[in-house]
Amino acid sequence: MRYNHAMTTGERKMTAPDRRLSVAPMMDWTDRHCRHFHHHVAPDALLFTEMVTADAVIHGDRDRLLGQPPEDIDAAVPVALQLGGSDPARLAEATRIANDYGYAEVNLNVGCPSDRVQSGRFGACLMAEPALVAECVSAMAGATSLPVTVKCRIGIDDMDEESGLDSFIDAIHGAGIMTVYLHARKAWLQGLSPKENRDIPPLNYDRAARLAAARPDMQVILNGGLDNAGAALEQLPSFAGVMIGRAAYRTPMILADLAAPVFGREVPARLQIAGAMADYADRHTAEGVPLHAITRHMLGLYHGQRGARLWRRHLGEEARNRRDGGALIREVAAACEEMAARLAA
Ligand SMILES: Cc1cc2nc3c(=O)[nH]c(=O)nc-3n(C[C@H](O)[C@H](O)[C@H](O)COP(=O)(O)O)c2cc1C
Repeated sequence: MRYNHAMTTGERKMTAPDRRLSVAPMMDWTDRHCRHFHHHVAPDALLFTEMVTADAVIHGDRDRLLGQPPEDIDAAVPVALQLGGSDPARLAEATRIANDYGYAEVNLNVGCPSDRVQSGRFGACLMAEPALVAECVSAMAGATSLPVTVKCRIGIDDMDEESGLDSFIDAIHGAGIMTVYLHARKAWLQGLSPKENRDIPPLNYDRAARLAAARPDMQVILNGGLDNAGAALEQLPSFAGVMIGRAAYRTPMILADLAAPVFGREVPARLQIAGAMADYADRHTAEGVPLHAITRHMLGLYHGQRGARLWRRHLGEEARNRRDGGALIREVAAACEEMAARLAA
């Protein structure tokens, strides 16, 4: 597998990415193939990587962890790298290494509640340690000319959602952070699984909006529970942007429906997106990527359309057995379109 990482931050334009619409970091989901797909759905959206720990970047296979598809580098697809960690020196080192991989931004995860993450003392538990987070982000900023940002919750456990969040934001703002992606619910660190922590603690958009209004010098991006375009557009005027997670994965056309009013983009046809992904699969399966690794992210493309079941079933079941590049994607997309046309006639 070859992933071009020729473009350094020095070569890349240093303008801040447009953050009005972003796709959230999601472990096991927002890998490079998923991001390429989302880029075809909404070319202006800022796309997040899965979280990568600073230690993995320092000690692991860097090209595998950080490399982006050459076509995405060439097209300057805006991608934010999310790092996890709580050691300022190691986060700085990981950020320095990431400079060579063409990212638009480096983000620190202060929102993820999983046990694995807590035992490494990073993720959401760091909301209780604003001074340490401030140290981490200033060390990261010292290692790159890219924007450094934070993703966090509105609090953890019994932390006060008003004063606790304000103190946390004061600390990171004091360390130079100008952008925060805010998952607008607390993380409860005891007793809830990571999945429950994405649903059970109540959403509080009003608190997020108050923060955004009180910090006009910062960009506050709203995240959490925005599962249709209307809901996201309703919130957008109060924030610098909206970040979509699960809905972007399960119903990806939500991104196109948002990109239309936000960026003035035409909603691309599903067939066109499928065609672009088939071309991508031709190139990457030739280099050894299993077709399934690409198509698994695309199963929601026809969600809500006639042909949705056909698409999910055939793409889901047959991708593991095919060895002819992206042909399956072209075939199933054509069959879905034909079915829709037949039923509409
Ligand atoms: C499968 C999955 C993996 C996730 N992994 C991460 C992660 O690596 N880093 C992070 O900050 N948040 C992670 N999250 C949380 C999302 O980024 C987002 O904050 C959360 O899903 C709420 O947004 P939503 O309601 O739009 O999905 C993950 C969420 C899911 C569903």
